[in-house]
Amino acid sequence: MNLKKIVVIGAGTMGSGIAQWFTQQKCSVELVDNSQEQLKKALLSIHSSWDKLLEKNKLSLEDVTEMKQSLFIKSLDEVTIDADLVIEAIIENLEIKKDLFKKLDHYFSPRTILSSNTSSFPIELMASAVSDERKKRVIGLHFFNPATIMKLVEVIKPKDAEEQLCHELYQWFDSKDKKPALCKDSPGFIVNRVARNFYGEPLRIVENDHESKMKEVDHILREIGGFKMGPFELMDLIGIDVNYSVTCSVWEAYQQEPRFAPHALQKQMVEEKRLGRKVKRGFYKYD
Ligand code: NAI
Repeated sequence: MNLKKIVVIGAGTMGSGIAQWFTQQKCSVELVDNSQEQLKKALLSIHSSWDKLLEKNKLSLEDVTEMKQSLFIKSLDEVTIDADLVIEAIIENLEIKKDLFKKLDHYFSPRTILSSNTSSFPIELMASAVSDERKKRVIGLHFFNPATIMKLVEVIKPKDAEEQLCHELYQWFDSKDKKPALCKDSPGFIVNRVARNFYGEPLRIVENDHESKMKEVDHILREIGGFKMGPFELMDLIGIDVNYSVTCSVWEAYQQEPRFAPHALQKQMVEEKRLGRKVKRGFYKYD
């Protein structure tokens, strides 16, 4: 497999990180979003990240120049139709994702692989929106935040996808600096299913007094438990809205099993727009 032309749809936290990582692998990347403002913000932030790596001598001027020339921001009707791989990283809303997959199926060449970075929906639900022929080339590629740094990529095979395709993608990521894992097409796959309790239990532990207790819980898990981040720090990084919608969809998918139940505080924070680092205000404040 030789992935050269990539289209990433959604230029938020994940889409911009995924676009940056693929560009760093010497692919030509077209980044799409329905917000022009978000696209410009993503491009600026990726360029600034490369400039910082150049200052630290982690990238050469030649590399940075080449990468800047290989990353484009576009609207969906401007992107190349014979892309090798499309990665959808838009809002975690099933109906909106299905609508998009339907459009992508009509738009892209029959050989283009369509993939989703969804955190929680079985890929089969998105594949149900495309033609039978395309279903063979619809898979899940679940990256982790920040996508340029986190090694794991879950490669998810819905029932109609070609076995060979998943195998080749697995090998392609393995040959780059990623650690792929083949996953069953079930809600939350592996990590997001296990991680529900990493967020849910701490939320229940701090209950109605999170302001005074969350720092202690984060400290214990980070410094003593050996986790890279505490649960409240990690929820702020992921985005409270994203984490809440993933929790709701995994909970619904498992017939509202109490162990996956969302916490009232998550909903309240979404309503108050305390969405985490991306708006500089979540469990913690950021300057
Ligand atoms: P985000 O809210 O930061 O970005 C979503 C972007 O999609 C926004 O820029 C929005 O303008 C754009 N968008 C919405 N509808 C669109 C459409 N119809 N066409 C084009 N663009 C559209 O969300 P984030 O965090 O980047 O999440 C994206 C996806 O990645 C979700 O499915 C989420 O579950 C998944 N994910 C999120 C992770 C995280 O830590 N935030 C980790 C792994 C997966």
